[in-house]
Parts: sequence; structure tokens; C-alpha cells
Amino acid sequence: MQITKLSVDGFKNLKNVEIYPHEKLNIFCGKNAQGKTNLIEAIWLCSGIKSFRSTKDKGMIDINGNVMNIDLSFKNNFRIQDIHYAMARPNVKEKNVTLNGVKLKAPSKLFGNLDCVIFTPEDLELSKGSPENRRQFLDLSVSQIKNSYGSVISKYETLIEQRNMLLKNISYGKSKREELEVWDIQLSQLGAYISLLRYNYTKKLNMFSSRLYEEISEGKEELEFVYFSTVFSELEGRTDFAGDLAAEYLECLKNNLEEDIRAGFTQKGVHRDDLIGRINGLAVRDFASQGQHRSIALILKLSQAYILSEEIGDSPCILLDDVLSELDMSRQRFVISKIHDMQVFITCCDRNIPFDEKSHGKLFNIENGKIVQENK
Ligand SMILES: Nc1ncnc2c1ncn2[C@@H]1O[C@H](COP(=O)(O)OP(=O)(O)OP(=O)(O)O)[C@@H](O)[C@H]1O
Ligand SMILES: [Mg+2]
Repeated sequence: MQITKLSVDGFKNLKNVEIYPHEKLNIFCGKNAQGKTNLIEAIWLCSGIKSFRSTKDKGMIDINGNVMNIDLSFKNNFRIQDIHYAMARPNVKEKNVTLNGVKLKAPSKLFGNLDCVIFTPEDLELSKGSPENRRQFLDLSVSQIKNSYGSVISKYETLIEQRNMLLKNISYGKSKREELEVWDIQLSQLGAYISLLRYNYTKKLNMFSSRLYEEISEGKEELEFVYFSTVFSELEGRTDFAGDLAAEYLECLKNNLEEDIRAGFTQKGVHRDDLIGRINGLAVRDFASQGQHRSIALILKLSQAYILSEEIGDSPCILLDDVLSELDMSRQRFVISKIHDMQVFITCCDRNIPFDEKSHGKLFNIENGKIVQENK
């Protein structure tokens, strides 16, 4: 997948940007607060996923203007496609989003066309941080290869909120235990399905990550990921999510009911699961060093890109926002060497980066929302 043209105007501080990215390497250098992350965010929006910065709609338009326009053309294995993403004050909810000239109902309908993998400094916390980050990583990764999965996750989240509300009402004596059954049946079916998809994704992850980690640790350490389910003790070899897995999930909810009522929330389920890394058999959350955690985070993101490539039969665009400067030289080289045959957008503050952009790609300068190519 390759972005061939990008025009941005009025998105945050970006003004009259028109660039023709290199098919592989694109580097955007600029001081702080010049618009580097804004550029990455503009590309990311065209992938149809909500902003990684959780920008509100009205925050997307330049505070000194009323209109924003993003136009992006990209090439996949089959053809060139055009995305147009625009909105204007005051009706920021009414976005004008088109794909190849056809108006879409919502920006989320862009999902599944321009595939991107983004890597920000926050992602370096993927291994060390909370389980919620890893669940989000898994869910986004799965949804990129199975488009309907995102709506299953949203439905599950809504159901869990409703169930938790009901649990509280039961403990106040305002509702009866029997009312739970209808929620629990739905929850079990969705939960079993989510467990299975995440479990299968973890297996795919291991196929790439073990080899990559062996390389980054120079053959000294072995990394393995395990999907930790709060419901199932064994998922290997199981496929019947609507049948025996859903039944087991329901059983688990029933067995925990009294505790759930006491706690006022649902204590077991896919919303409490985790992706656990192990180095040489030991859980990384207990003993890994800062550097090992960073290497694992890198490997997770690289594996995500590789799995996506394999599943869609085309490489995704890689967006590295300010992340290289956080890594030591050998890790920088490692990352670059692993994505050199994909189209990459890298932002950075200094030019001390381990490759020769003159022969391999394009270097852009970014200042006060304006972008100029330097190496013509
Ligand atoms: N709606 C908006 N209208 C105008 N400017 C905005 C808007 N939202 C954010 N900005 C500004 O855009 C500027 C650039 O932000 P951005 O996050 O892209 O910087 P950056 O180049 O990535 O900096 P850093 O190196 O610190 O990460 C900031 O000064 C920010 O205040
Ligand atoms: Mg930034």
C-alpha cells in the first residue's frame, strides 16, 4: 500500500500542505509544535479509525479558520483510490467523507481501505503498561484483519455497562437476579467469540514475534505471548464459540454472580483478560528490564504490521511518530531494517537518524504547519 499524494489544509495548524510521498521512506523533520504529529494524525484519520490522540471534532479545524480538508490518494495492489475528508464550522458533526467520489455515511466507513500501523512514544509502554493497553492493541489488530470485529467489541462494552448497572441495582434491591439472564446469554456469545479471535491472533503474533525477538536479543532470549483468559482455562483446539465456548462462558458468569453483586461489577470476562509476554518462560511483567519492555513493544508493533501484510496481501503504511529518538541506535537500525520494504512516514526533531535519506527516500522540513521537501 502506498500513499501517492496528500493534501491537507486547515487541519489543526497544517496549511496548504501538498506532498507526493516517496514509495518507501518519508522523513519529516521539525522543531516541537510545528505540526509533525498533526500530519501523522491526518493520515491516520483516513484509515477510518478514531484519532489516536482522541481529538474532538471541533479541535480538528484550525482555530483561526472554519474549514478543513484532507485529500489522500493511495495505491494498493489493484488500483489508485481517493479519499476526501472535510468538515466545516459550525456543523462539525456533518463530515463530508468520500471514497473514490462516493459519499460515505461516516468516517468509520473508510475503515478497511487504507491500512496503517501507527507507532507513537506511548506504544513503547505496551509491554510495561496496563492490561487495557494490550487489550486495545489486540482488538485493533484483530479488527484490521476482520472488519466486523470492531462492532462486536462495541456491543460487548455496551452490554458490560448495562450488566454492571443491573448488578448495582440488584445489590440495592431495586432489580431481581433473574433479569440478568437475558444480558448474560448475549454477553457469553460475544465474549466467547472475542476470546477465540484474540487467542488465534496471539498464535499468529507468536509466529512473527519469537523470530524477531530472537534477532533483537541476538539469540540470547526467547519470547512467547500467552493469551490470558479470565474465563477459559484452555482455548487450544476449540472452535465452537456459539456452542460449548458460549456455554462455558455463561457458566463462569453464573458461578461468579454473588461476588459480582458484592463488587458491583463483572469481574470475569474478556474486559479483564490480558496478553502476557514471557521471556525464557518467565512473565515479563514481573521481571523484565526497561529495555526488554521496549524491545517487546517494538516487536509487538512490527508483528502487527507483518500479520496485516500477510492477511491483506499488501504491506500497510507505517507511521512512526517521534519514536526513533526514544530508541538507542541499534534498536533504531533494527526497526528500520524490518520495515524497509514498506512505505514509512517518520517524524523526528533531529536529523541524526541512521539512514541516508538522499538515496532511499524523501526528506521534508516542517515548520509552522508548512511542509517543504528538502532533497529534490
Ligand atoms: N485546532 C488547532 N488549530 C490550530 N493549531 C492547532 C490546533 N490544534 C493543535 N494545534 C497546534 O498545532 C501545533 C503542532 O502540533 P503537533 O502536535 O503536530 O506538533 P509536533 O510538531 O508533533 O511537536 P512535538 O515535537 O512537540 O511532538 C501545536 O502548536 C498545537 O498547538
Ligand atoms: Mg509530536
